[in-house]
Amino acid sequence: MSSSSSTYSLSPSITPEVLNTPGTQRSVLFDDDVVADPLNIDGSTSTFIMVVGGLGYIGSHTVLELLKEGYNVLVIDDLSNSYETVLNRVRGLAIDFCTAHGRRMPALHFRQLDYRSAHMKTVLASYSSYSIISKPAPAPARFPYSTLQRTDSGIDMDMDDAQEPAVERLSRISGVIHFAAYKSVEESIRMPLRYYSNNVCGLVDFLGLLEEFGIKNFVFSSSATVYGEGANCGLPLREELCVHHPESFLDSDGAERRVLPGVLGLTSPYGRSKFMCESILADLALSDPTWSITALRYFNPVGCHESGILGEDPRQKPSNLIPVIATVLTGTKPVLDIFGTDWNTPDGTAVRDFIHVVDLARGHIAALAASTAGRTLAPFRTYNLGTGRGHTVREVLQSLEDASQRKIPVREVGRRAGDVGFCVAEVRRAETELQWKAERSLNDCSGDVWNFTKARCVES
Ligand code: UD1
Repeated sequence: MSSSSSTYSLSPSITPEVLNTPGTQRSVLFDDDVVADPLNIDGSTSTFIMVVGGLGYIGSHTVLELLKEGYNVLVIDDLSNSYETVLNRVRGLAIDFCTAHGRRMPALHFRQLDYRSAHMKTVLASYSSYSIISKPAPAPARFPYSTLQRTDSGIDMDMDDAQEPAVERLSRISGVIHFAAYKSVEESIRMPLRYYSNNVCGLVDFLGLLEEFGIKNFVFSSSATVYGEGANCGLPLREELCVHHPESFLDSDGAERRVLPGVLGLTSPYGRSKFMCESILADLALSDPTWSITALRYFNPVGCHESGILGEDPRQKPSNLIPVIATVLTGTKPVLDIFGTDWNTPDGTAVRDFIHVVDLARGHIAALAASTAGRTLAPFRTYNLGTGRGHTVREVLQSLEDASQRKIPVREVGRRAGDVGFCVAEVRRAETELQWKAERSLNDCSGDVWNFTKARCVES
C-alpha cells in the first residue's frame, strides 16, 4: 500500500526506451529452455500462464502479481499501446519481491507479437509437451508438428503412418488471461471496424487456436460498460443485469427472477465489442463445457504499483479521469474539465467505483485459482471487479489534491456524451466464488498515482 516504506530500484539491465516496430516478432526469454527445444519431447513440464496484452496498464500489474504468486508467465504484447521497458520494470519488482521473501523467481518470457499473428501457432507449439504413449519411436524428431492431427480421443496421431507410435500433446499453458483489446470509447466511435476487427474477430480466431492446443482455461477482460443504461438504475450493479443466456436468480427480497439475454443502451462500438465478446464466450462454453471461462467486468481501474515504477503510461492521449488529472498536476494540461455537475448525486458530479489496479490484478489470480478449484459455478461466468463503493468526481479531485498537496484547477462543463451518472459494483458474487475482495481505498490510489506522476517527472 502507499503507506509502505519499501524502496524499489530498477534493474541495472534497463535499457533506454528503444521502441520496436509493432508487428515484428521479437522474443526476450529469461531463465527457461523452451524455445531451444521447440518440440520438447518428454522435456520440462513446468506450466505457464499466458498473458496476452501483458505490458499494458492492467496487464503489467497482473503479470507482476502472477510472478509474486509463483506462476511462470509468458507475455504476448505487440507494444501498440505499451513499452518494452515495462517488462524490465515488472521483472525488477518481481525479483525484489522474491529476494525479500526467499523465493525462487519464476520464469518470465516475452514475445513481441500481435495476438492475431500467424506466429502465435508456432509459439503455442513451442509451449507444448509431447509424450509417446504407445510403442517407443526410434527417432522422435520424425514427428513434425504439422503432421500431427487431433483424434476423437484428444490424442494427436501422426496420420502419415498409423503404425507409428502415438504422441500425446499437452500444452504447458495452463491458463490464458486476455487483455489485448483496444479500449478508447472515443476512438471506437471514429473507427468501429478497427475495434470489431481486433476485439471481436481477433478473439474468435484466438479461441479457435487455443482450442486446437487444448487450452481451455480463459480469463477475459470485460468492463462495466456492458451494463449499458442499466447503470442508471442508481443501485449497485449485479451480474444478472447483463446475461447471455436465460438465467434465474434470487433478488434482494428472496424472490426468484428470470432474466433474458441482452442489454439496453450500449453507447459505443467499444462497449458493444465487450458485450459481443462475452456472448461469444458464453456460447462457446455452452457448446463445450470443458472450457472454463471467466469474464471479469472491471469498474474504474485506477492507481498503480506502490513503488511508483509501474503505472498507467499509454501511448495514447489519456481520457479517463485520473490520468487526465495527472496531466493537470504535471502542467501538461492547464485545467481539468468536469463533465457534468447536474447528476442526481450528493455533489452533482458523477459517481464511479474506483478500484486500485493491484486489487484488480489480484482479481485475475483469484479467477484462475477459482476455476482450477472448480468454484466458478458455470463454464462461463461473469464477475464484477469493483469495491462496491462509489466516489464522486469531486471526491477524487479532493483525494488527489490531498495526496499531492497541490490545488488542481477545474472548469465545469456539460456532460460528456455517453456518460452515466452512477456506476458502482455489486461485489458479492466475486467475494463468494472468487474469494476475492478489493482492499485498497481511493486515498491509496491517489497516493500511488502521485508517486508515479512524480517519478515520471524526474525521469523526463
Ligand atoms: C470510461 C469509459 C468506459 C470504460 C472505462 C475504462 C466512457 C464514456 N466510458 O468509463 O467505457 O470501460 O472508461 O476505464 O468513456 N471525467 C471528467 N473529466 C475528465 C475525464 C472524466 O469529469 O477529464 C468524468 C467522466 O465524465 C465520468 C468520470 O469522470 O463521469 C469517470 O470517467 P472515466 O475515468 O473516463 O471513466 P468512465 O466514464 O466511467
